[in-house]
Amino acid sequence: MPERHVVLGVSGSIAAYKAVDLASKLTQAGVAVHTVMTEAATQLVGPATFRAITGLPVSTSMFDLTNPYSIEHISLSEVADLMLIAPCTANVMAKLATGIADDLLTCTALATRAPILIAPAMHTAMWENAATQANLKALQDRGMSFVGPAVGRLASGGFGAGRFAPVADILGWAMALMGADGDLAGHKLVITAGGTRESIDPIRFLTNRSTGKMGFALAEAARDRGAAVTLISAPTFLAPPAGMSVFPVESAAQMLDVVEATCVDADVLIMAAAVADYTPEMCASEKLKKEEIDIDFVLPLNRTEDILATITGVPIRVGFAAESENMLENAKGKLIRKNLDLIIANDISRADSGMGADNNECTILDASGNQEDLPLMPKREVADRILDRIVALLEKT
Ligand code: CTP
Repeated sequence: MPERHVVLGVSGSIAAYKAVDLASKLTQAGVAVHTVMTEAATQLVGPATFRAITGLPVSTSMFDLTNPYSIEHISLSEVADLMLIAPCTANVMAKLATGIADDLLTCTALATRAPILIAPAMHTAMWENAATQANLKALQDRGMSFVGPAVGRLASGGFGAGRFAPVADILGWAMALMGADGDLAGHKLVITAGGTRESIDPIRFLTNRSTGKMGFALAEAARDRGAAVTLISAPTFLAPPAGMSVFPVESAAQMLDVVEATCVDADVLIMAAAVADYTPEMCASEKLKKEEIDIDFVLPLNRTEDILATITGVPIRVGFAAESENMLENAKGKLIRKNLDLIIANDISRADSGMGADNNECTILDASGNQEDLPLMPKREVADRILDRIVALLEKT
């Protein structure tokens, strides 16, 4: 993938310290982060911190002769794939709204043709002030995107709107904006994740060992390549990713309903969820009591619907086959039985790969009988390799 460049504008809110984490996460995601700080921001966090985290020069003034940029605000505005102003104070929002360019950050924002994403952070009264709200509307009308502010505890000790949005959300929206013209732009992908829960009574359920990591990695990778992503997730411990539609579900039946509704206009369905094949015949309305049950408790189960086999109208359908024996043979059988375009087979008997692990070693099988063996790699890389195959299939449809 080509290197992407973010100009990270940091202004003088106490949340500036959280921008260090944001810069770190962006850098870890392979993004070149060029930090521009206002004078006020440098009072709160040192430029050397951003320099160390990003490995790139930090600009604090229009006339810094030690930096490599020829005319700083022009060079920065042109290199940017995205200008991300985080945190953005009420003062900087006001300057952006009126086109004031009296420091490097606001000059760069005025000069850039890149999309601008703003993460405001300020006291609730300042956020709710009519002037700030009018500036917000003006900036949105001009095509600038906003993430947050969140509602929560503020540095002042108060509670309300104005808190810097979670770093993961800002990162998600930044990646989505930068990938907007990627090779999946214009396509809708419905992706399922996690292990479904089949209720026995109000507190007990049947489930499996799926953690949702593979489905979430696919959803984030697809978002970052420009797709409109719908993520349908059975319960997981993962935070819902930003920049996509997320539908939480519990049971196989609920997942089927949401997949059916969201697939109407989808180009691709990827079933990465581990869907229960059986569900209790009935869910007790009250907690089951030992005294009321025979010593040997028998739980009658019914077969669930096979979602992938049921949803046939989507142009490209992709399944997963988690197998503990005869991996390729079983996966091929599922590919044919469910009439899939691709199936990703993985061996769940390995501790370092597959369910719950951060890495996966798997094999992609296609409808023409081709087999692609992927070595052990992070699930995010597996996701991109699967999406490469989907892009190739979309080009043929
Ligand atoms: N799947 C589904 N609906 C189900 C069961 C499975 O859509 N009720 C999907 C899974 O999300 C996966 C693929 O079908 O993409 C294969 O799932 P898997 O559980 O491996 O296979 P099954 O067909 O259920 O067969 P078995 O459990 O007997 O191996």
